[in-house]
Amino acid sequence: MRYGHFDNSMKEYVIDRPDVPVSWTNYLGTEDTGTVISHNAGGYMFSGDPETHRITRFRPNGVPLDRPGHYVYIRDNSDGDYWSISWQPVGKDLTKASYRTRHGLSYSVFECDYKGIHASQKLFIPRGRKCEIWDVILRNDGTSERRLSLFGYCEFSFNIIEIDNQNFQMSMYCSGSRYADGVIECDNFYNPGMFHYFTSTFEPEGFDCVRDSFIGVYHTESNPIGVEKGVLSSSTELGNNQCGALSTGLVLAPGESKRFVFILGVGDLMAGKEEKAYFSSTSNVDKAFDELCSYWNAKIETLQIKTPNSDMDIMLNTWNLYQSETNVVFSRFASFIEVGGRTGLGYRDTAQDAMCVVASNPSQCRKRIIQLLRGLTSSGYGLHLFSPEVFDPDVPKTEPFKSPTVKPMPEPSSMVHGLKDTCSDDALWLVPSICEFIRETGDLSFLDQRFGYADGGEGTVLEHMERILEFSARQVGKSGICLGLRADWNDCINLGGGESALVSFLHYWATDEFIGLLAKSGHADRIGHFTEMKAKIKEACERELWDGEWYIRGITKSGRKIGTAADEEGKVHLESNSWAVCSGLADGEHARKAVEAIDKYLYGEWGIHLNAPSYSKPDDEIGFVTRVYRGIKENGAIFSHPNPWAWVAAAKLGMGDLAMRFYNSLCPARQNDRIEVRQSEPYTYCQFVMGRDHSAYGRARHPWLTGSAGWAYFAATHYILGIRPDYDGLVIDPCIPASWDGFEADRVFRGRKIHIRVTNPHHIQKGRPVFFSLDELEGGNLNVEMKN
Ligand code: GLC
Repeated sequence: MRYGHFDNSMKEYVIDRPDVPVSWTNYLGTEDTGTVISHNAGGYMFSGDPETHRITRFRPNGVPLDRPGHYVYIRDNSDGDYWSISWQPVGKDLTKASYRTRHGLSYSVFECDYKGIHASQKLFIPRGRKCEIWDVILRNDGTSERRLSLFGYCEFSFNIIEIDNQNFQMSMYCSGSRYADGVIECDNFYNPGMFHYFTSTFEPEGFDCVRDSFIGVYHTESNPIGVEKGVLSSSTELGNNQCGALSTGLVLAPGESKRFVFILGVGDLMAGKEEKAYFSSTSNVDKAFDELCSYWNAKIETLQIKTPNSDMDIMLNTWNLYQSETNVVFSRFASFIEVGGRTGLGYRDTAQDAMCVVASNPSQCRKRIIQLLRGLTSSGYGLHLFSPEVFDPDVPKTEPFKSPTVKPMPEPSSMVHGLKDTCSDDALWLVPSICEFIRETGDLSFLDQRFGYADGGEGTVLEHMERILEFSARQVGKSGICLGLRADWNDCINLGGGESALVSFLHYWATDEFIGLLAKSGHADRIGHFTEMKAKIKEACERELWDGEWYIRGITKSGRKIGTAADEEGKVHLESNSWAVCSGLADGEHARKAVEAIDKYLYGEWGIHLNAPSYSKPDDEIGFVTRVYRGIKENGAIFSHPNPWAWVAAAKLGMGDLAMRFYNSLCPARQNDRIEVRQSEPYTYCQFVMGRDHSAYGRARHPWLTGSAGWAYFAATHYILGIRPDYDGLVIDPCIPASWDGFEADRVFRGRKIHIRVTNPHHIQKGRPVFFSLDELEGGNLNVEMKN
């Protein structure tokens, strides 16, 4: 069953049936102000930090889905009938009204045709501004004049989400509203200076600032009393629940169109008036939208491909890049799953996100890398989840609030946790991310820049990297394998004083990457030490972790190996077997068998399972994974994030057919016609897909903000298509299905526009890597024939 299609020329996903099984969301905003919006215009807006600077309210996991939102209602004044431009919240009969949602790159358009009126509402956040534009057009497609009213509506939130959800003593009495000159101002009175506004470029005939006056008691957003009656009540109040509701009447002659713009933003009445004046010239609205499109076009141009796999083209040319960029901007903190309580940066997630889109967003990746360098302790471990502002000397530290009920800015020292709360993998991801940043940008001078450590002192970037590797070298258990600590990449495998195969493989990878960097950056004298470190890791891994047919996952504190042939549950694990190969540690038969085990035990039609068979009995020596239902999340679901690791592993071994089969199984675009099973958006990777041990096998959950986005993009572009930046040039090293005749790509690398043409006349899966120096790239055209 399908609900929509990809419009590749517009780079949009078009939903033509709005009754999709779950909310299909999009992200507006490319800087710090953002909105998460569903295909039914439900969602919320925030600026900077969605935990402490929420603008509009959202009732997560609610019934009905995604309420409230950023809604526009239309009322036919001849008979009192009314509807919303998005299908919800009014929810007209779909046999009488037709709706379309177009999710594009940082904008969404809702369209509706009902009773001869065509209406559209385009939402976007202009670059460089802290406001959201609602660009509304109404057209009379009928033959008679129409007398209509138009209403824009949003519900304001108290700015601190915890208070908004739990402490009505504060939220309801410390915020208020006023109206003047066509602007509604919502005052978060408790936080002096924090205001939000809702305004329009037309002069409103009616307004409401109090939610319950607009909606009406025992009414909902589906039938607000203000729209039902056709008149608003000019409500304002100091205290109570605030909203923005503005209305106007209009007459549309047959064939006539009219345009109306609403603006929702950060700032007080004056700020609202300024934006109202600015956007009253619709050419400024168009200009702002064009700027947004140019911003995205520049990103999209960094890599465009044309391959025999059209779904791969759709994902890599647009959607996968878009999702990865969204992750590097909004991290994990704003979605319909994370609704404001989990802000700050997760160390490992951020390090991985920043590795994957350096080509399209070097400045944001650099910013994230610096934040992580400052979140590293002097002993070499990263703070698992931290607020980067706390460690940024350029961010002014606010004075403690007078009220004891508002969280003051934490003292940096209170955020530095000890070893007990350290995840063993966190900082290891940063080393290859920095290497990748330098390979893409060529900026070796970055290594000499100095940054503070979270617990005091400072060092160069290179020194930070050394400390990370030394930390893991020290933190090993009896067998010489890295300790599991609180968790490794898998939050739910909690080996504590036991040992993690995954972390030792990551340590090997990071050390190997670092050695490559030392060689290029004039630090050859340090190579010997790290080469010894690498050899020691390899020796321990091969001695302790090979099980005969695959690599084990770890060793518990009491010395029990997990992920062995003798295990009935959790026999084979994806993380250790993919990373044995990705890291370059495993070779020959062990490498091949590890990938074969992934294929034999973990692969399924919806992707690769994280482990199998899933656990059915709680076992705290292994961890929380054993307390999750079978086939869900880390317990034997198809956890998307590590899937691309298996693509990299297969590609490294030259198994192009297998890499593509793995790729295709998880590819969202390929599931566009199977929504009755997948349920979630077919244009983003989801955190996980229910595994075969669950009755809902194939159902995808938690879209958008997941490490799978970056990794899918990185693995497919760098290892399947094999287009990899190197310190002094570009490597072309594809590993593709034997049936492919080749492919083409346009890549921007260090300011050069390069056209790459790969041919595969001998129908092999992998040839010899070809290196092009910067001089060779000057020509702009690269022809690579795959050969052994
Ligand atoms: C979630 C976390 C990520 C972790 C993964 C596996 O996606 O954000 O940090 O690695 O789960 O547990």
